[in-house]
Amino acid sequence: LNRHNHLYYVLAKPELSDREYDKLYRELSDLEEQFQELAAPDSPTLRVGGEPLSGFTSVRHAVPMMSLSNTYERQELLDFDKRVKKLLEDAPYSYVVEPKVDGVAISLRYENGLLVTASTRGDGKTGDNVTANVQTIRSIPLRMMGAKAPPVLEIRGEVYMTKAGFARLNESRTDAGQEPFANPRNAAAGSLKLLDSRQVAERPLNAVLYGTGQLEGIKHELHSEFLAYLEEKGFRTASQYWTCDDIDDVTKAIDSLEKMRHDFSYEIDGAVIKVNEIALHEALGATAKSPRWAVAYKYEPEQAETVLKAITLQVGRTGVLTPVAELEPVTVAGSTINRATLHNIDEIRRKDIRIGDKLLIEKAGEVIPAVVAVKKDARTGKERVFDMPCNCPVCNGPVTSREDEVALRCENMQCPAQIKNWLRHFAARGSMDIEGLGESLIEQLVDSGMVNNPADLYELEKAPLAALERMADKSAQNLLNGIEGSKTRDFWRIIFALGIRHVGARSAQILEGDFADIDQLVSADAESLEAIADIGPIVAASIVQFFKEPRNCKIIEQLKAAGLTLKSTLPACAAVPLSGKTFVLTGSLTSMTRDEAGERIRKLGGKISSSVSQKTSCLVAGEKAGSKLAKAEKLGLPVLDENALIELLNKQD
Ligand code: IVH
Repeated sequence: LNRHNHLYYVLAKPELSDREYDKLYRELSDLEEQFQELAAPDSPTLRVGGEPLSGFTSVRHAVPMMSLSNTYERQELLDFDKRVKKLLEDAPYSYVVEPKVDGVAISLRYENGLLVTASTRGDGKTGDNVTANVQTIRSIPLRMMGAKAPPVLEIRGEVYMTKAGFARLNESRTDAGQEPFANPRNAAAGSLKLLDSRQVAERPLNAVLYGTGQLEGIKHELHSEFLAYLEEKGFRTASQYWTCDDIDDVTKAIDSLEKMRHDFSYEIDGAVIKVNEIALHEALGATAKSPRWAVAYKYEPEQAETVLKAITLQVGRTGVLTPVAELEPVTVAGSTINRATLHNIDEIRRKDIRIGDKLLIEKAGEVIPAVVAVKKDARTGKERVFDMPCNCPVCNGPVTSREDEVALRCENMQCPAQIKNWLRHFAARGSMDIEGLGESLIEQLVDSGMVNNPADLYELEKAPLAALERMADKSAQNLLNGIEGSKTRDFWRIIFALGIRHVGARSAQILEGDFADIDQLVSADAESLEAIADIGPIVAASIVQFFKEPRNCKIIEQLKAAGLTLKSTLPACAAVPLSGKTFVLTGSLTSMTRDEAGERIRKLGGKISSSVSQKTSCLVAGEKAGSKLAKAEKLGLPVLDENALIELLNKQD
């Protein structure tokens, strides 16, 4: 599993399908549940996060985490090189140029190859212990690859969120009525500070590694050799860096990087220039804050001034109204910008954005441009304050805000804007992957009233489809084929495609593992959902809420009638009576051994765990049961004695 993880997340060259990986993963996780004492300290099951912490402990950095001094002009770079030359007298030296990743600094401590601690920079001397959170970042090896690991190796780097991941996260936060993050760096920092590592596991975090802290039993002559060593040991480094003979080469590398900076999946706010010869780092030393052997060169942020012509509203899949700035078109980073997101009304008020204002906007890569500031000096007095409407701009339905949410929502479930977004989600590549169902068709199908929900797609007929604008017999047939083809999608894809708030692809896969069919899922209560490892209370509540809605139950019936596979096809999860239930056995049994009892429970689909927690469905207490019984009683868990267990087993057999 660890090897496939590396192939997938570091090298982007997977050999297994997601499904095959999941099968292996489940096998391991079942084994670990049976034999907890055998779970490895680098087990990939750690990646999903564990019990929430009450706070972070502190970690004192054996070698302080410094920052870099910044340069903005070419001349400052030449000055830096002059200083290096002077300090090194006649020693020959060269440089490495790396992207400056705009993320959060992290220090990873490996002892004999095993990741033991991950910490944030903090004040440079002491940081937070965020090991559980960092373990969820799939590209960070839990154990270094290869033999001969050094006794101590501290590796430093940057945890970041990809631009695409950031956009998706903010979209789902806005959909859920939560405050969006201002930029990918804040999103990464906020994610690393979560106390619940299971939540962190859902955040699209990644890392690039580029430096060292404390080292024992390992030495490299050149920084570029160290980077190559990192790659060999399974770490992710920047996809591109340059070794340069002199400062002339350095400026060329900086130019090349600047041209391609938007092609990186993460934000790059500059270049880092490092002396390549590691022995010279010591000779050059450091000031109080930063080393003298490295410097950052910052690129111009990509900002532009423009005028806010109007504020329009977008209605999302869950009805959230998002204000959008309609701008006088302006060119930034080579592309024309005419819209920017304003997130929500609080943001508009906080920044005091008025229609007609001159705004400073910023665009970085694919991230939707954001408003940085309002040019208040340029106001003429004709600017207009914006207010959110009381009715949905699309369907005129009432708009309300829920407790603890900044977002305003259109509560009309029949709102065409919501239905369109729902269909987009349903048909998308990652969910039902319906070929031929493009944007303009979705618009027409909803506007004409032919489709009111995803299940209606399965009742479409050829003639009315062919009569739609820009459609003909052939295109109608193509769409029908696409819809027909989607009927064989896996159960988890359907669960995901339903668009239940907070249920992402991963949660959907977990649910498929625990529910044999849709009826079981529909009738599950919050308690049994929460009992599933990796399903938290928010997700559980949202699932229950979804199936409480009569409309959604009708949709399920429609999907069933259409012949979709609404049951799990996982071999291990056939419809077994105790599936999804976790038992703990304690004390001594008289009519059978604990192992025999465990075996019978497992045959009925139940799981055996050796420790009692909230996730335990039931404790079986034999004679002389001790602390586990006390704990189960304290947690209010159901407790069975031997007779009750036998009765249960006989009933299910
Ligand atoms: S080397 C002794 N290399 O930028 C400091 N830092 O503004 C060694 N950063 O603290 C830092 N990409 O958090 C280095 N390729 C890179 C980097 C990088 C981003 C961050 C890092 C550092 C900050 C300084």
